[in-house]
Amino acid sequence: MTLSPGSEPDRGAARPRESPCGGRPLHGIREGGRIAGVTTSPDTGPHASLTSLSPDELAAFLTSRQQEYAALRRRGLQLDLTRGKPSSAQLDLSDRLLSLPTTTKDRSGADVRNYGGLEGLAELREIFADLLWVEPEQVVCGGNSSLTMMHDTIVHLLLHGGPDSPRPWVRDLLEGGVKFVCPVPGYDRHFSMLASFGIEMLTVPMNEDGPDVAAVEALVRDDPAVKGIWVVPTYANPSGAVCSQEVAAALVGMPTAAPDFRIFWDNAYAFHHLTEQEAKSADVLTLAAASGHPNRPVMFASTSKITFAGAGVGVLAASAENKAWFLRHLSMGSIGPDKVNHLRHVQFFGSAEGVREHMRRHRAIIAPKFAAVDEALTRALGGLEVAGWTRPTGGYFVNLDVLDGTAARVVALAGEAGIALTPAGSSFPLGKDPRDRNIRLAPTFPVLHEVEAAMTGVATCVGLAAAERLSAGG
Ligand SMILES: Cc1ncc(COP(=O)(O)O)c(C=O)c1O
Repeated sequence: MTLSPGSEPDRGAARPRESPCGGRPLHGIREGGRIAGVTTSPDTGPHASLTSLSPDELAAFLTSRQQEYAALRRRGLQLDLTRGKPSSAQLDLSDRLLSLPTTTKDRSGADVRNYGGLEGLAELREIFADLLWVEPEQVVCGGNSSLTMMHDTIVHLLLHGGPDSPRPWVRDLLEGGVKFVCPVPGYDRHFSMLASFGIEMLTVPMNEDGPDVAAVEALVRDDPAVKGIWVVPTYANPSGAVCSQEVAAALVGMPTAAPDFRIFWDNAYAFHHLTEQEAKSADVLTLAAASGHPNRPVMFASTSKITFAGAGVGVLAASAENKAWFLRHLSMGSIGPDKVNHLRHVQFFGSAEGVREHMRRHRAIIAPKFAAVDEALTRALGGLEVAGWTRPTGGYFVNLDVLDGTAARVVALAGEAGIALTPAGSSFPLGKDPRDRNIRLAPTFPVLHEVEAAMTGVATCVGLAAAERLSAGG
């Protein structure tokens, strides 16, 4: 079926399907497709499959995309879809913080301007405990970055070992190596952090319901050098996947050769819903305690994409033993966190419900941008069977899989046309996507009309790169 540009494609038969990487349902590529390396679905769209075209038709398609691309370049765009940052309008939602706090004492009467209170303000820990389905006693509120808390946790494990470690991890690192399981596609900074320590990364597929449990189990069962796994459980970066209670239970319960195996449960997008169907994060600390491995998960979250990305509050939650261990090491480098900022956040939110309400205001700003991404891709690529993409229900990213071997070309074409995209492969350890097909789109930062313009351009580049490759016999 071919529709004129701008008309609504018939999505009646469109059906989500497994992504080629086993991730969230993607839209746009057909199942059982004829293009090697691309998983496909009985999706519909305005276009006929590129592979069904005769050589002449393919040549005509290539010419039309080349013309479209030349016109795109002439527009002299300067657009940026690289990083998942809140937009100015989102930051404005929290501007009242700039005049808070209005008092200097916390609930207990302690002066927040002074030293002390390493675990963070009790009233802020209560708010996060409510939001994350944990107990306030399990929570630490820290500085402005949860990534720093993840980094600190790994540094402490390396230098000192955890409560249940036979020895500091650095000894293993020097005598044979330490390995981490990395679900892919995943968060680039998780991977670069491990690379900076010389920790080896073993990839497993990120499925629609979380990491591929069978693949993880096979890696951790017999190898004591495998010490940890990253999990972004809610609206994962970049696939948007939500880890199910079953997958969480399997991960905390599975046998591991390392007695001090750690799940870095990075719940950065726990409350970042894009629809009314608000996913609930799996209750990982309770599940871990029930399965006899209370120290296995360490949970992280922050207000970076709730209030101010540069001036929010990072959060860690863990078993009593893990928390005491973390604070013991933290106390060697800090006499207490920025409690003024904690109190400011308490006064701003008032309660956990205040946070949820605030997130609905974010949703009103960013949900149209995600819709614009889907519309642009569907309009230009629907039915071509050369790209698949997620329609996430939360988080900050759209995962775009293009024809194998064309992601780097798409990013280069877009760059030359003034549209900055995250480098191809950045969602894989060491930036190496073995199939060169994955692109992470981050639509939150630009204003809506820029997202529309950028995505129309990206879709042109995807079509052009695919036509080039197919014309070359790829
Ligand atoms: C999965 C994930 N974790 C952590 C972070 C950074 O968190 P923070 O700002 O709290 O350091 C990000 C930011 O993009 C992220 O995507």
